[in-house]
Amino acid sequence: RRICHDPAAHQPLAYLRLRQAIRNIVEHRDIEPGHALPSERDLSQALKLSRVTVRKAIAGLVEEGLLTQRHGAGTFIAERIVKPMSRLTSFTEDLRDRGLSPRSEFFERGIGEVTPEESMALNLSPGSLVVRLHRVRYGQDEPLAIERSVVPASVLPDPHLVRDSLYEALEKLDARPRRALQRLRAVSLNAQQARLLHVSVGSAGLNIERRSFLDDGRVVEFTCSWYRGDIYDFVAELQTD
Ligand code: GLP
Repeated sequence: RRICHDPAAHQPLAYLRLRQAIRNIVEHRDIEPGHALPSERDLSQALKLSRVTVRKAIAGLVEEGLLTQRHGAGTFIAERIVKPMSRLTSFTEDLRDRGLSPRSEFFERGIGEVTPEESMALNLSPGSLVVRLHRVRYGQDEPLAIERSVVPASVLPDPHLVRDSLYEALEKLDARPRRALQRLRAVSLNAQQARLLHVSVGSAGLNIERRSFLDDGRVVEFTCSWYRGDIYDFVAELQTD
């Protein structure tokens, strides 16, 4: 039986270390978004690593959405926010991974009786209490998305437990979602949404509905978001069965 020779296989640590080092560069903004990374050849010479190792580290970061490659031109720090769709992450985590500081501005952070529509989405009986969060999400002080989240009060008893991140609050309550169903729709942003997101009326947006579940199957959130279409890319890896 032939064994494939993969030089990178002998230095898995070098590959992981380089990947982390490049991630740090992006997170600390040592190279600004849109700017080029040194070439594969320069990196391998400077770091005394094989080209295979360098290529593998870069490929991983391209897949994560931190870097983009333009044929013939090289590798660049990603400018748009590229979000892998198959990972259940929060807005806060997505932004921090890209070296951006997330912030929320709340319009509503309260508790009330579930509406018929919410009770269907959350599998709750009429009369149950829910926490409602309505906020604009910022990255580096730029508005990126509007989000309306509804969470059963049985999971999140007090809306003020959410400071900036809903998932951080849920994590502390041992109720971090484990699975989610997400639906994406193209929309054009109406006047109010456009004003909040600092874009012109009718601009392209992505409407995302997420229902997240706990391990025991309970629905933990129903969130409706409007992301700016000019900034966000959602990417998914597809596989045959
Ligand atoms: C994304 C999802 C939402 C989720 C949010 C949590 O934006 N689309 O469904 O509620 O992340 O983010 P955070 O923990 O930053 O509040």
